[in-house]
Amino acid sequence: MPFDSTGKISFDHIYTEPDPRAFFGTLRRLDYAIPQQAKAYFAKLIDEYRAETGVAVPTVLDLGCSYGVNAALHRCGTSMERLYDHYRDCESLSRDELIARDRRMVATDSVRFIGLDASAPALDYALAAGFIDEAIHADLESEDPTEEQRALLADVDIVISTGCVGYVTEKTLVRIARENRPWMAHFVLRMFSYRPVAESLADFGYETTGIDGVFPQRRFASDEEQSQILDNLSVAGVDPRGLEDGGRLYARLYVSRPNGAAGGLASALNALPLRDQG
Ligand SMILES: C[S@@+](CC[C@H](N)C(=O)[O-])C[C@H]1O[C@@H](n2cnc3c(N)ncnc32)[C@H](O)[C@@H]1O
Repeated sequence: MPFDSTGKISFDHIYTEPDPRAFFGTLRRLDYAIPQQAKAYFAKLIDEYRAETGVAVPTVLDLGCSYGVNAALHRCGTSMERLYDHYRDCESLSRDELIARDRRMVATDSVRFIGLDASAPALDYALAAGFIDEAIHADLESEDPTEEQRALLADVDIVISTGCVGYVTEKTLVRIARENRPWMAHFVLRMFSYRPVAESLADFGYETTGIDGVFPQRRFASDEEQSQILDNLSVAGVDPRGLEDGGRLYARLYVSRPNGAAGGLASALNALPLRDQG
């Protein structure tokens, strides 16, 4: 399997299929768990936002949403474990049949989800399945949003992401932040520094907090991948002992808020249990 420029295995091929079967099939074998780890934190953040602002139905942008994974976990009241089972052993179903089956999992929800991704097929699926309400097909690393995309970004109250910062940098996050200064919560692999993002967002009046704890993201795909990532961590001055040297990638959670927003948020998130199995 090819490696990307950061030393990780490249999964580009599973992000652009017409449906999520290859995505879940591949990531299940690696125990990809970060959306599950994130679920309770995102739910808490959304609740805090409602309490702080009085907005009953906040608009949440899932950055790098792929097939609408974080929205599906929230909206379908499900878990990664159950999604892995759901998309397993269903090769005989057509895409339309799969979508119809997915739509039956979706419950009415008091969150409006917008998905942003560079993959049009993944977004099309997430919309058709009802996991997200609107889609922004964009690569904001390389260009500004269109007027239509800016109008959607101007509605965003909260930005969430798993497995995306690293693919995207402060270039994307600044282009989002300047439209409506949304709250943000990103799970970021320890091999990537959040400092450039935090510093760029500070220019827009944001304060950033790193939440206590580390979160298992997935197993290494091979010894070669592990060895490359351990090299990268060493260059970055990050100690892998007891974590990545045991065979998994780990992420941290960063919350960036515009000045004056929800002072108790970081401590409320810190108070959550680190592992959510539900
Ligand atoms: C590892 S997947 C994470 C998917 C999902 N958030 C999850 O955790 O299950 C990374 C996603 O980022 C998207 N991506 C990569 N580069 C991007 C960019 N420049 N802008 C938007 N999305 C991008 C990919 O298409 C892919 O869907």
